[in-house]
Amino acid sequence: MTSEQWTAVDDYLTDLVVRPDEALTAAQRAGDDAGLPAIAVAPNHGKLLHLLACVQGARTILEIGTLAGYSTIWLARALPPDGRLITLEIDERHAAVARANLDRAGVADRAEVRVGPALDTLPTIDGPFDLVFIDADKPNNPDYFRWALRLTREGSLIVVDNVVRRGAVALAGPDNDDPAVQGTRRLLELIAAEPRVNATVIQTVGSKGYDGLAIALVTAGPPSAQR
Ligand code: SAH
Ligand code: DHB
Ligand code: MG
Repeated sequence: MTSEQWTAVDDYLTDLVVRPDEALTAAQRAGDDAGLPAIAVAPNHGKLLHLLACVQGARTILEIGTLAGYSTIWLARALPPDGRLITLEIDERHAAVARANLDRAGVADRAEVRVGPALDTLPTIDGPFDLVFIDADKPNNPDYFRWALRLTREGSLIVVDNVVRRGAVALAGPDNDDPAVQGTRRLLELIAAEPRVNATVIQTVGSKGYDGLAIALVTAGPPSAQR
């Protein structure tokens, strides 16, 4: 199988089943037009995030890594009208594109972009969140997971994007010393050692290449010392 085939199948599945609406397509286009990197989740992955948030009955969502707000829109659309989503973005330019996209998608009342390095913003945020989506700079993934644990409750879901990276997470190769790969490996080791989550990791292929997702269900609240 080649990446051309993965993309062709993704296009087929997306056109047939996922059917992103005009606001989502426009959000992708606005990111491209503004010169933002084309690294948003694929439409079928965005819909997976949406469905996970629906199954979760999420009323509060935290996202780390906004870009143009494409995944943000999918997630925010799972919220009830009084639900709240906070998304963290380091780049003011990305945040401006995202805010316009959230507005166009009709979710600006529920979804708020906070600008700054996430590790500076996270200490100012109050949980608990029903779902946390981690999708920012990969070297900080271990810290983002620790924050996600602090800002969730028993029953919350933590989802992490890009944890396989063409296999680099597990296979010897030129990417092995990459801080992004090392950050992701440390994250997976934290998940593995954490008694308060019940987790899996899946490999994915598609229009965004060969990658993977970690999904962790929080099975207990934070230790009382951290509350
Ligand atoms: N979740 C988005 C894609 C996010 S791409 C989607 O699927 O649509 C990763 C984003 O994280 C980029 O916009 C990048 O600027 C941002 N980022 C990188 N380092 C960051 C940091 N330290 N704090 C917050 N955001 C960061
Ligand atoms: C990159 C980041 C992402 O969140 C992603 O989905 C793909 C690539 C990156 O930084 O290269
Ligand atoms: Mg990603």
